[in-house]
Amino acid sequence: MQKTINTDNLKIGMYVILPLSWYQHPFVKNEFLIRSKEQIQKISESGIAEVILDTKKSNFNGEQKNRAPQTEPEKTARPSASRTVVPDGLLEAIHDVNLAPQEKAKAVRAHSITMISNLLENPTAENIQDVKKGIAEVVDLILTDDDTSLYLLDITSHDFYTYTHSVNVGFLAVSLSKALFKKSEAHNMHELGAGFFLHDLGKVEVDASIINKPGKLTEEEMAQMRQHPHMGYKLLYETNQLTHECKKIVLQHHERYDGKGYPDGLERDDIHLYGRICSIADVFDALTSERSYRQKLDPFAALKLMKEEMIHHFHRDLFEQFVLLFKQHHDGKP
Ligand SMILES: [Fe+2]
Ligand SMILES: [Fe+2]
Repeated sequence: MQKTINTDNLKIGMYVILPLSWYQHPFVKNEFLIRSKEQIQKISESGIAEVILDTKKSNFNGEQKNRAPQTEPEKTARPSASRTVVPDGLLEAIHDVNLAPQEKAKAVRAHSITMISNLLENPTAENIQDVKKGIAEVVDLILTDDDTSLYLLDITSHDFYTYTHSVNVGFLAVSLSKALFKKSEAHNMHELGAGFFLHDLGKVEVDASIINKPGKLTEEEMAQMRQHPHMGYKLLYETNQLTHECKKIVLQHHERYDGKGYPDGLERDDIHLYGRICSIADVFDALTSERSYRQKLDPFAALKLMKEEMIHHFHRDLFEQFVLLFKQHHDGKP
């Protein structure tokens, strides 16, 4: 059901439709679920007096469901007056020459999670551009600091929030790309990194109740979830972000080498190399993260399962290179 509502009465969790063309307001789309006070403020500042409220798509618990837990130290440390979604601490940690590799990796991980959480709350073109700058710094760190990047692979997570998962996949896929491409000029590592960190951006368009459902999804819910690669691609297309090749990461990261993936059932080399890299990192992180319906696996158990039961999902050579990363990680830790 739709009704007109005064912008003074907007609340988090309302699904609103703006009565303007997308280029006349600061949001990526004309209609969306309000997830933060900043979005309400932006709507007011745009001079819009009334919007259309879709009560059916509204979710009045949205505020709690999609946000990072406020107890996370990096979240509370974020300056409230900050105008960028990139925490100052991220760049400070990256460039702090006195931080030991393990501590640096820990700080970079925490601040990266905050950065992506901020973006998912408000994925405007401006915020995506800011986050791309932060990701470029993280990519440079991984490319130039072997010790810290080894610790960044310590990613077994106790949650499966989209922002935590996005950061894990970013670290893993950039590390695999570093091993594959060395320092080849043929690949734009900053764009590539952005594609990996933002691969699940389309999940901001999926109902929070589905994203955070404790348990397996029904067929209908799964059908909605399977829209996220297309939605993410569209969002990046509309905001003119990422190269054509790197947008394919977002579109193709659930395709499988045997052709049984989604959304398009592409197979073998029809899946872009970057999409094939991302799919390995994506599955690995899902297996090594705690889910409500199963226990997480340790990295080597996850690699074993991927090799023995899922190898047809992946490009075999890429998978072997991914395994080597962990061998190197295991052998190379000081
Ligand atoms: Fe995904
Ligand atoms: Fe993912």
